[in-house]
Amino acid sequence: MPYAHITGWGTSVPEPVLTNDDIAKMVDTNDEWIRGRTGIRERHIAREDQSTATLAVEASLKALELANLAPTELDLIIVSSSSPEYIFPATACLVQDQIGATKAGAFDLLAACSGFIYATNMAAQSIRSGSIKNALVIGSETLSRFVDWKDRGTCILFGDGAGAFVLQASDKPGGVLSAVMHSDGSGADTLTLLGGGARHPATETTVLEGKHFIQMDGKAVFRFATRVMGSATREALELAGMTTDDVDLIIPHQANYRIIETAAKYLKMPMEKFVVNVDRYGNTSTASIPIAAVEAFEKGTLKSGNKVVFVGFGAGLTWGALVAEWTGPIPTKKHVYTIQYRLFARLRSFFRRALRFIEGIFSRREL
Ligand code: ACO
Repeated sequence: MPYAHITGWGTSVPEPVLTNDDIAKMVDTNDEWIRGRTGIRERHIAREDQSTATLAVEASLKALELANLAPTELDLIIVSSSSPEYIFPATACLVQDQIGATKAGAFDLLAACSGFIYATNMAAQSIRSGSIKNALVIGSETLSRFVDWKDRGTCILFGDGAGAFVLQASDKPGGVLSAVMHSDGSGADTLTLLGGGARHPATETTVLEGKHFIQMDGKAVFRFATRVMGSATREALELAGMTTDDVDLIIPHQANYRIIETAAKYLKMPMEKFVVNVDRYGNTSTASIPIAAVEAFEKGTLKSGNKVVFVGFGAGLTWGALVAEWTGPIPTKKHVYTIQYRLFARLRSFFRRALRFIEGIFSRREL
């Protein structure tokens, strides 16, 4: 049975920064309160010309370049997002087209902030089963587009960004070692975005009622998160036949510094083993784990051969944890320049659209 290794990674974070002081000019809050309650100092907000798909494409190309894997070799693309480009088509299909992943299947996965763990596990299991060899998993969000900038309970929390992993089959032991995924829909109403779906299709009333914004019972989410972060970590470790002593690094979902601290206490692990960057990004939802992982790697905190746990929670309610041995690129002589593939993808997309247009003209004549 092949192993599923993480062989490439990349992020894309919009440059514009929104500080706590900036938010204090919009709602009744202050830097001290936000830092004290969440640990957040600033977050990045997408420019108008950026979106969930553009951030996803950028992060993906970096991950593929690092893995030295041509987009044409991908078998599967999963985009995890709670702020997809559209309800449909799937953002994953837009990424597939824009990177030129000619033979990849593509779909979106919605498990809120736990999504990246779910998606990585799904891709790893597809590789482990032998049905595919190469997968691209992306967590991408522009939640700033769904935040009520008049609601101080939520607008202080979220930021935009994307992170991507390439997963590849190898006979060498390692890679994704275990994962657990959980849900409890009885808590669905604690964190919602109700408008625009089948239950509340967009109308003037849904807009006036603020149904297109994120609504959250912060305290309930906080209590739930502190309960499940530690237990999911232990569960996944047990499945991998490991204990907390075997873990080099925990990369938790970055929602709130206090939630991470509580998990560390529950697991009796020092905070130094936890990657924390919520102070500079805020909660980027499903993108937070890959962004934190890539930053840890770039700082030298996360190294090849390290045993890591990714653990997260989110709307749904959902939660999960995944244990992996961090690998890195599979040695190869070739070098993939993704810029060439991007160019090829644009041309390919243009010709396929033109062909479809011409086909349309002829089929109308035939009728
Ligand atoms: N600035 C100043 N005061 C505020 C603010 C603010 N931004 N927000 C709320 N307050 C006030 C409240 O009105 C309240 O005042 P009151 O006591 O006079 O009524 C007081 O501060 C305490 O409010 P709480 O909501 O009880 O504050 P709490 O300590 O719970 O912190 C927070 C709020 C930060 C949102 C916290 O509950 C939290 O982090 N929850 C988890 C949220 C989370 O992780 N969400 C993401 C889930 S992942 C996903 O799927 C997207």
